[in-house]
Amino acid sequence: MLIEYRDLWKAFGEKEVLKGVDLVVNRGETQVIMGSSGSGKSVMLSMLVGLLTPDRGEVLFDGQDVAQFTSIEEWRRVWLRTGFLFQGAALFDSMNVGENVGFPLRQHSQMSEQQIGERVAEVLSWIELEGIEQKMPSELSGGMQKRVGLARAIVLEPEVVVYDEPTTGLDPLTSDTISELIRRLQRERQVTSIVVTHDVRCAFLVADRIAMLDEGRILVEGTLDEIKNSAQPKLRAFLYG
Ligand SMILES: Nc1ncnc2c1ncn2[C@@H]1O[C@H](COP(=O)(O)OP(=O)(O)OP(=O)(O)O)[C@@H](O)[C@H]1O
Ligand SMILES: [Mg+2]
Repeated sequence: MLIEYRDLWKAFGEKEVLKGVDLVVNRGETQVIMGSSGSGKSVMLSMLVGLLTPDRGEVLFDGQDVAQFTSIEEWRRVWLRTGFLFQGAALFDSMNVGENVGFPLRQHSQMSEQQIGERVAEVLSWIELEGIEQKMPSELSGGMQKRVGLARAIVLEPEVVVYDEPTTGLDPLTSDTISELIRRLQRERQVTSIVVTHDVRCAFLVADRIAMLDEGRILVEGTLDEIKNSAQPKLRAFLYG
């Protein structure tokens, strides 16, 4: 396993969001997390990259409990190994595409401007958007913005990529393109992924395993086939309406 949540608890004031979440993510696999709006999916992801801290429990990243981290250096090692595609593409509006995608390289690598330019071009071509370095985010469609967000998330060649609602708000065809990119990252680069999504079609296209978060805990977890065939009533209602 590469990532493990152990008995994770989180409340905001009176509101208990996570109430003992246990989940294992295996190296090289794509783990989907589903669950209704407000169930705490984004909170789970935020804890993995240090945007939120748990009240109780452990979040293990390659054997290390990130909840115990005390220095930015410890976090930096996790950030270098993890790409994050935020809910909404979250591009920097004042930067063009090339600057957006090159940003992590400027922050975290010693590459020259020329090397950065080459790497940005390579990643853009990989997501089939070559040559759009000079465009501003506002000039791009929602689907293109998501793909640029994905390019930025993978520019440092992370072992882990975390996706928060990668297809929400996109038409089915564009969604399938994103799902295919997630699949290719796993197949061609052995990336370990966590994909949070409401989109059942996307989940079925990308998942090795699916977990459903409900009332603060993992209600069901299993392989794609196990989940498709599960008799759990809440899960069936979620998947098949
Ligand atoms: N920083 C925060 N401060 C206070 N409450 C928060 C914070 N972050 C999340 N919450 C609350 O925690 C709950 C879970 O939020 P979260 O964003 O994880 O839901 P989600 O499952 O990702 O939902 P969606 O599918 O709509 O994105 C919500 O009630 C939300 O209001
Ligand atoms: Mg969310």
